[in-house]
Amino acid sequence: MSAQDSELMELGGKFIKAFHHMSHPVRIHQENNQLMKECIAQFGKVLAQMAGGEELEILLWRGRFFLQGEKLLYRRETFPLINEMMEYFPQRGLQGLRFLPTFRKASFKDFIIFARLLDEAAMQEDPPSWLERQLADNGLQWLEILREMDDIPPDIELRRKEKAKQTYLQALTTVKEVAQKVSQRSVAGIRKARRLAQTMVDLVLEDETLMLGLSTIRDYDDYTYTHSVNVALLSMSLGRRIGLSQAFLEQLAICGMFHDLGKVEVPKDIITKPDMLDTGEWEHIRRHPLIGVHRVLRLHASRDMRSRVVLGPFGHHLNYDLSGYPRLHFTETLTLFGKILRIADTYDALTAERAYRPRSFSPDEALRMMWERVGVEYDPVLLKTFINMMGLYPVGTVLKLDSGELGLVVDYPSESERTRPQVLLLVDDGQGSLRGSEMLNLADRDQKTGSYERQIVKCLHPSVLGIQPSEFFLQEAS
Ligand SMILES: [Fe+2]
Ligand SMILES: [Fe+2]
Repeated sequence: MSAQDSELMELGGKFIKAFHHMSHPVRIHQENNQLMKECIAQFGKVLAQMAGGEELEILLWRGRFFLQGEKLLYRRETFPLINEMMEYFPQRGLQGLRFLPTFRKASFKDFIIFARLLDEAAMQEDPPSWLERQLADNGLQWLEILREMDDIPPDIELRRKEKAKQTYLQALTTVKEVAQKVSQRSVAGIRKARRLAQTMVDLVLEDETLMLGLSTIRDYDDYTYTHSVNVALLSMSLGRRIGLSQAFLEQLAICGMFHDLGKVEVPKDIITKPDMLDTGEWEHIRRHPLIGVHRVLRLHASRDMRSRVVLGPFGHHLNYDLSGYPRLHFTETLTLFGKILRIADTYDALTAERAYRPRSFSPDEALRMMWERVGVEYDPVLLKTFINMMGLYPVGTVLKLDSGELGLVVDYPSESERTRPQVLLLVDDGQGSLRGSEMLNLADRDQKTGSYERQIVKCLHPSVLGIQPSEFFLQEAS
């Protein structure tokens, strides 16, 4: 964690604590009560510290607090308090509060009124409107009410997209650097990779769909590296679905990033060969997991970390029935990480464009093909979870609709409608390419007939249309 992060965590924690402490005594004490006075004074002090001469915005969005647009990091000991505050805002129909710089001129009495109004708002029929009226009547112009919105506050959304994109690119560079150092037999550390893994886990926990969207990034020339980062993202998302802890998710991310480290030793013309491989060439390919294991063991990292990371290269080509490679000469059980990576690795490889096949498979085709090998190559529970996570039409799939329109799957807004995604309509940009226009929810029904407004005719592979889905996900961030 950077010094800046820990400072923000410290101050943010203090702020929530002061807010919480102020909101309780106001219910039972008079304003001349000593405890009441102390709580108000403390709140004013922390507020001024946090705002630092500017305004201060606190938002609650998707179960996380954001201070000045930055996600508030929690300490374990503040959890119960944070949980309580998470109910405090919705009970008042609030998404957040904005303290304008003039709050510095507010008196002690103003703060008492503010605390009492917030407290009483919970009992009103329309708390935000009531609060707005009361604030105006009491002359508290230094406070703005941010009402609960269906939409995501755009600045948070943009920051997150930008952060996601930067993290992806940094992870890509890191994998490349480590791979190159490893192939030159120089010392390669994974400290940077660990830091990025932590950020990726954070982002996956916050917005899985965005990270699944990012995993559609393809780079034909740098296939192995984009593939490695994609496998990390897909594995983490699957790991999250089965409830792995944050620490395990971080390790899984690193396993994903370095699972193909052994490919560095495979001549590039074999990897990019458009024809069938001969036996010797196949042997080369089949050796990459064990070469990867050796490379990982030479990485500059703790023994504990290396023993985790080797699970990636070792297990990602082993099948559920213990076939695959490397050949096992003893009966062993597969590791959970290996089984997860096996699924993420195959899915990404099938959906990527490769030299040796005329076209890549569309996401739904890939999932169908994998399902045919369930219980043989893939763990049934994990594959089921993976398919469920990806949805019938995974994020990044292009759908042809009965209206003749094309829609890029960007989200599944409702867990109960896993067959009806939200799509971004793709229209001709007048220059021979496609651009995103409006967003449609395919779960929307015609009000009169009750049937869906649009039907899905078929899936198309994005490469057929010459588009990279990830570009559309990150559109606003670029
Ligand atoms: Fe591999
Ligand atoms: Fe791979």
